[in-house]
Amino acid sequence: MRKKLVVGNWKMHGSRAANAVLLAGLKEAGPWNADVAVCVPFPYIAETALALTGQQVAFGAQDCSAHEQGAYTGEVSSAMLADLGCRYAIVGHSERRAYHHESDQLVADKAKAALAHGVTPIVCVGETLAEREAGRTEEVVKRQLAAVIHTLTHCIGEIVLAYEPVWAIGTGLTATPEQAQAVHQVLRLQLHAATQKSDAMRILYGGSVKPDNAAQLFGQPDIDGGLIGGAALKAADFAAICRAAM
Ligand code: 13P
Repeated sequence: MRKKLVVGNWKMHGSRAANAVLLAGLKEAGPWNADVAVCVPFPYIAETALALTGQQVAFGAQDCSAHEQGAYTGEVSSAMLADLGCRYAIVGHSERRAYHHESDQLVADKAKAALAHGVTPIVCVGETLAEREAGRTEEVVKRQLAAVIHTLTHCIGEIVLAYEPVWAIGTGLTATPEQAQAVHQVLRLQLHAATQKSDAMRILYGGSVKPDNAAQLFGQPDIDGGLIGGAALKAADFAAICRAAM
């Protein structure tokens, strides 16, 4: 049995004051019988680490550099994330693929850099609405995952994978549990061909997960939790989603 994992992706939201309220709310609401984490903006990682000391909630970042160190202004290395105690780093989120033109190979290189420092990459894949309507969903997510499999080779079993259909992110349009399960199954089969560990790997669903649809999504056989955007910014909503994963 895979233990469920629920990760809050705060994106570019928050302030020191707002984060303190949110994290205090999560402390109150736990514990949960699921793994829980928050991926916060870089400047808030250290303070989040302090606030979560001794708590069940792990923390991480929303990106990391593919480079080890050096003259890469504005980049943050996975060694730095590890130094701060990050458990996770999201890589390949569709917002970074779209707005920062991140390629499949760059995403794979970031995942490799994270793993090299003991930070678990949460690798995001997902199709746009146009790609879904053109019947290309499988082809797109398999291409995105293939780059990561090719780059990580025998370490692929160490990642967390997240399926986030781009058309479901921040739109209130959730994939139906059946639509999501169908893609998760395709991804698990692809992982299965690459590693004997595929049965133990967690594949999260992301895209307009809310307290009222989480349980149905998490009830699907290949959905092992969620990557939560908007609903992760309110302690009560995020806590309810974590409960739905138990
Ligand atoms: P929403 O939950 O706001 O749709 O965002 C999902 C997401 O992009 C998480 O990474």
